[in-house]
Amino acid sequence: MEKSQQLLKEAVARAAVAELVPGMMLGIGTGSTVDCFIDAMADSGLRITAAVASSERSASRLRSRGFMVTPLSAITQPLDFYVDGADEIDSSRCMIKGGGAALTREKIVASASRRFLCIVDASKQVKVLGAFPLPVEVIEMALVPVSWAFSALGGRPVLREGVVTDNGHPILDVHGLRFENPLEWEDRLNAIAGIVTHGIFARQKADLALVATASGVVRLA
Ligand code: 5RP
Repeated sequence: MEKSQQLLKEAVARAAVAELVPGMMLGIGTGSTVDCFIDAMADSGLRITAAVASSERSASRLRSRGFMVTPLSAITQPLDFYVDGADEIDSSRCMIKGGGAALTREKIVASASRRFLCIVDASKQVKVLGAFPLPVEVIEMALVPVSWAFSALGGRPVLREGVVTDNGHPILDVHGLRFENPLEWEDRLNAIAGIVTHGIFARQKADLALVATASGVVRLA
């Protein structure tokens, strides 16, 4: 990663911490931007009431920075914010996620949160979602029929070699699709048997996106 992109991630992470108030219950996403967010939150000294992690990776980073990790099953009311990065985000704040293979738990924790705060650098902004291959977590025995289904839709599914999700499933990355209407696509793809989760986040799009640019952090709401 370029040094400048790392600086943008750190800047947007600090901006996200500034959106929070002490005592909040948070869902924590996964990825290099979220790693910066966890570090920024720790450095700020902000006290939160609960942190629910979307991956083992984020859980261990949270613990290493002194936060207690709460299982989602222990939560009795929706989390205040779900904070996560994205692989692509469009102007309506729909996203492609799952580059870090955590998409299923990310969708689940996001669904248990009142607001989704997306933190990205400007390279993630797109007009139409789909240049980034769509991550799809699949039940292993369904890899062949799910691949057929994506091929019939005009996509090119590629198995992500050597990757198994925290839930024990393989990932297909589907190239060559454009998601002009992410909401319709999300529902259509949900109907394919054997898919655990795909990476279109339109039903759970971001309520607020903070986008780090060379000239500062821009708010998309
Ligand atoms: C993980 C994700 C991440 O949010 C996405 O891949 C962005 O990661 P990064 O912040 O490292 O660019 O969806 O499953």
